[in-house]
Amino acid sequence: MDKFVIEGGVPLKGEVQISGSKNAALPIIAACLLAPGQYILKNIPRLRDIRTIAHLMRVIGAKVEFENHSMKIDTTHADFPEAPYELVKTMRASIYVLGPLLTRFGKARVSMPGGCAWGPRPVDLHLKGMELLGAKIELDRGYVNARADKLRGNHIYFDVSSVGATGNVMMAAVSAQGTTIIENAAEEPEIVNLGEFLIAMGANISGLGTKHITIEGSSELHPTEFTITPDRIETATFLTAGLITRGELTVTRCQPEHSHEVLAKLKEAGAKLSVELNSIHLKSAGAIQPVDVTTAIYPGYPTDMQAQWIALMSVANGRSVITDMIYPDRFTHVPELRRLGADIVQKNNSAFVKGVAKLKGAPVMSTDLRASASLVLSALAAEGVSDIHRVYHIDRGYERIEEKLKKLGAKIERTDDGKMY
Ligand code: EPU
Repeated sequence: MDKFVIEGGVPLKGEVQISGSKNAALPIIAACLLAPGQYILKNIPRLRDIRTIAHLMRVIGAKVEFENHSMKIDTTHADFPEAPYELVKTMRASIYVLGPLLTRFGKARVSMPGGCAWGPRPVDLHLKGMELLGAKIELDRGYVNARADKLRGNHIYFDVSSVGATGNVMMAAVSAQGTTIIENAAEEPEIVNLGEFLIAMGANISGLGTKHITIEGSSELHPTEFTITPDRIETATFLTAGLITRGELTVTRCQPEHSHEVLAKLKEAGAKLSVELNSIHLKSAGAIQPVDVTTAIYPGYPTDMQAQWIALMSVANGRSVITDMIYPDRFTHVPELRRLGADIVQKNNSAFVKGVAKLKGAPVMSTDLRASASLVLSALAAEGVSDIHRVYHIDRGYERIEEKLKKLGAKIERTDDGKMY
C-alpha cells in the first residue's frame, strides 16, 4: 500500500492547475444512462472515485473509454439496472445511478450505502424523492429495489438540503410526466453543473443555483458533449497549503466565484489574495491569524474543507473554534493531527484549536479523503519527516496530489509501505 513521505518546512511556490470537480463528474457520468448513445465528457479528473463509477457504468452495460481527462461513454447497450454491493461499499456516490436507471429501465436495484468512516450518511431523502415521483421502493437484503412504470412530476420539499438527493431527483424528473418542483434544493456548484449537463441533453430546468428548482418533464433527451467545472475543494486545499507553508502560489484553471467563503476566511487568516477570472494568487504575510469557521451548505464554508482548516489553525497565532454543522462526527483527523503536535480538543461537533509554534513530523494514518488532505498540509508545514499511511484515501479525490505539490517545491515522495492491510 502506498504512503507519502513528506519532509516539511518548504514554502510552496509556483503555479498549480486545478482538475475537474469530482463531485460534479460523478453524477454527470451517471446521467449518461438517461438516454442511450455516445457522450464525451471533458475535464474529468483522474481519480479513484472516477475509476469506480466508470467500473459501475461498465457493469451496467455501458462502454467507457478514458484518456487525457476526456471520457467517452456509450450507453446504447446498457441493459443491467443494478449497482452491486461490491462497488457501492467502496463509493457511496454510486447511489447516483438510482434516478437514471429508474428513468431508463423503469426499475433499479441499488445496494444501500452504509455508514462511512466518520459516521452515518443516510439516503432517505433520495428514496423519498423517488417515491414522490411515483416509484415503489422496497428494501431487500441490503438492496434498494425501485420500480416505476411511469414517473410523474411532483412538488418535493426536502427537510434538509441534500446535494445527492437534489441531483438524483433532478435526473429522475427530467423524463417524468409533468412538472417537478424541488424546494430547499441544493445550491452547490456541482448541482448547477449537473443541471447544465441535463439542459445540454435537452432537459428543461430552471432555478439552478437557488433553493427552488423547477423541472418540466417529458423532455426528449439526447447524448451530448460537456466540460466539467473545476474542483472548488481542490482549489481551496492548494490555497490553504500555500498559506500553511508560508508560501506564494497561483492556482489556475479554477472558478474563484465558487469559493467566496473560503477566500474570505483565508484573507482573515492573513493571506494576501488577488483574484482573476480563472486564477487566484496567494501570498502569505506575517503570522497566521486564528479564525473560527462553521461549516454550512453552499455558499457557506464547505464541510469538505473543515479538516484542512483545522490543520491551518493548528499553527495559527492563537485559539480558534471549528464547528461542523453538516457532519457532526467528521473529526477522525483530530487524533492524527495531535500526533504531529497539534493542540486540539474535540467536543461534540466542534474542534477547539490552540495554535502551536511548530508541528513536528511523525508517522500518521489517513482515515478518509479530506482527513488525508489535512494530514498532508500539516506534514508540509511540520519540522522534519512525516510518513502518511493509507494514502489511497487521498487518491479518491485529489489527482496526483504529490506531483502537483512537487512542482510547487514540496519534498514529497510516494512509496510502497510494504504492508498489507
Ligand atoms: N442527508 C440526509 N438524508 C439524505 C441525504 C443527506 O439526512 O438522504 C443529510 C446528511 O446526513 C448531511 C446533509 O444531509 O447532514 C447533507 O448531505 P448531502 O446529501 O448534501 O451530501 P452527499 O450528497 O452525500 C456530497 C458530497 C460530499 C460533501 C457533501 C456536503 C458528493 C459525491 N459528495 O455528499 O463530498 O461532503 O455533499 O457538501 O458530491 C467529499 O468529497 O469528500 C465528500 C464527502
